Formats: sequence, structure tokens, C-alpha cells
Amino acid sequence: MPRAVRLTWEGKDRPSPEEGGPPRRAFATDDERGWLLEGDNLRVLRGLAETRAGTLALAYLDPPFFTNREHAAMLRKAGEPRTRRTRVPAFDDRWPDLASYLHALGSRLEAVRALLAPHGSIVVHVDPKTSHYVRVLGDEIFGPEAFASEIVWRYRRWPSKTPNFQRVHDVLLRWRRDPATPPRWNQPYEPLAASTLAVWGTNKQRAVFTPDGRRARSSSTAEKTDGVPMGDVWEIGVLAPISRERTGYPSQKPEALLERLLGALSDEGDVVLDPYAGSGTTLAVARRMGRAFLGIDAGPVAIDTTLGRLAAMGSPMTEHAREPSGRYASKVMRA
Ligand SMILES: C[S@@+](CC[C@H](N)C(=O)[O-])C[C@H]1O[C@@H](n2cnc3c(N)ncnc32)[C@H](O)[C@@H]1O
Repeated sequence: MPRAVRLTWEGKDRPSPEEGGPPRRAFATDDERGWLLEGDNLRVLRGLAETRAGTLALAYLDPPFFTNREHAAMLRKAGEPRTRRTRVPAFDDRWPDLASYLHALGSRLEAVRALLAPHGSIVVHVDPKTSHYVRVLGDEIFGPEAFASEIVWRYRRWPSKTPNFQRVHDVLLRWRRDPATPPRWNQPYEPLAASTLAVWGTNKQRAVFTPDGRRARSSSTAEKTDGVPMGDVWEIGVLAPISRERTGYPSQKPEALLERLLGALSDEGDVVLDPYAGSGTTLAVARRMGRAFLGIDAGPVAIDTTLGRLAAMGSPMTEHAREPSGRYASKVMRA
């Protein structure tokens, strides 16, 4: 029997006492295919287990990165003579130590696991400060055989004056809920290189060999090519300061990154979860791509930013009244 490798810290086996419960506030799109839930995500995720267990195709988690800082949003308000920008606290990423951070994240990974469909995946977005710990933690929770990919998101940004190689990547770790079940998977392809397009256009190439078995110049076929299946290093630009996507919310991720994930790992009509919703990037992309969504965030600035973003794309969300029992019960929780 192979011996398991585990991370340890004092108090690790003490379960987090948070009970599952309803969100503080809940907002829904008109068709109730999209939900935004305000509250601590552990409580809300555990609450969702009553009715949503085993139903989600994809969960994307972009937790705070253990920066030990408070992060502020720069909110813009159009006005005369010019747009005013106000700095407001958005979320707190200060921790007593790394163990507290991993303990909190581990409880959330377990709670998300209970909600995933057998064909579903979880993707956890971290950076190289913690990715090695989170990889081991995730292997403990999902099983090493459920580990599917380590995606390196490589971006360009202003160089910093540090006597080190510039840090220009984040890490996205993916596990499958049940490695014995075929995963939700739509094969993505690398965009064709400009040089390939110039020589071959979009036609498939065929390898050609000389009579003595040596490789000759390939020939073109009439069949169209999809390109090379996508690898696990992704070059996607970070949001430019003047990008139309930019909301002013800190650590907002580019929609192109989420489009690639949702396109590969979910189908139209599937439910996608983001329990660290922030400015609502996942939810906006899910909506545009015909996926249902569940977003959770504890911060009112995140909730307001997401509501504004969804409204601007023609999907306003309205607050959903609680039932007399104080719960949101079936509607919020229904798949
Ligand atoms: C890095 S940001 C997510 C950014 C998001 N992916 C985007 O593109 O805008 C992390 C978010 O997690 C939220 N958050 C942190 N801890 C939380 C918790 N325990 N429960 C719910 N939300 C939490 C913060 O309020 C913050 O909005």
C-alpha cells in the first residue's frame, strides 16, 4: 500500500465549525438562471449542499493570493467636469500565517467538491507563492488521481526592479470530481501561427516522404484543420488600464481567460460556480456563453460591481425576497 503524502499544520484536523446557511442577500437574473449570493462562501456553499449536491459542471475559484494586504477598489463615477475616482476597501487578504490561509481554503475546496457533478471539474487560481501547497492540499481532498492540469497563465506587465527573474505567470490547478467518469470536455485548439497561415492557410498538412524514407516538404490537403490541441501554457494579456472590461475592482481577471476555461470545461446550459466572484468576471462570461451561474462574495463592493456589470450587459439582477422562515429555500438553491 503506497504511503500518502500530506501537508500538516497544528490544528489541521479540527474542522471549521461554520454551519451551512442562507446568504445575507440573494440576487437573480430575470430567468433565474443566474444567482449572486452575498455572504461568507463557506456558509453559503455548505447551505447549497442541501439542494445542489452533485450538480455543477465547473467551479472556478480565484481566492485572495495570501498577499497579507487589504485591497481597494477604484470606483469611477461619471460627472462634470470629469469622472471622479474614489478608493474604497474591497477585500482583506491578511492572515495570521500560511496555515490559517490553507485551512480556510481547504474547507472551501471540500465544500465545493460536494457540489460538483461526477463529470465536473474545479479550477483553483493561485500564484507561485502558494501554488505548491495548494497542489498538495487539493490532491489530499480530490485524490492525486483526480488531478488533471496545472495551467500556467503567462502575461506581460511592467517589469519591476528586482534582482530576480520577473514573475509573469499565475497557476491554475484543475481536478476532476470523479476520474472514473468522462469529464465535460470541449477540445480547444491553439490559434494557428501567422507563419503557418501564410504558408498553409487553414488547410491540413500531410507529411510527405521521399522514396528512401526521408521527410520531404509537407503537402496541403483540402481538409480544414482545427490546429494543434491547446497546451497548458496560456498567453493571455492582463487587463490594460484603459480596457473597456476594467471595473476598478482589484485583481479582476480578463474575460478571455474565463472564456477559455468555460468553453473547454462546460456546455451551454451547465451550471458554473464562482465562490470568490469579485467583480463578476466568471458570471458575466457564463451569461454570455449561455451557462447558468452561481456567484458568491462576502464583500458589498464586489456585489455592487457585479450587479452593475451584469446590468450593463443587459442582464439586470434583482434582489430575491426571503421566505418568512428567513431562508431562501428552494428557488435559490435549485439547479
Ligand atoms: C481575487 S478576488 C476575485 C476576483 C475575480 N476573479 C474577478 O475577476 O473580479 C477574491 C474575492 O473573494 C472574496 N472573498 C474572499 N474571502 C471570501 C469568503 N470567505 N467568502 C466570500 N467571498 C470571499 C473577496 O471579497 C474578493 O472579492
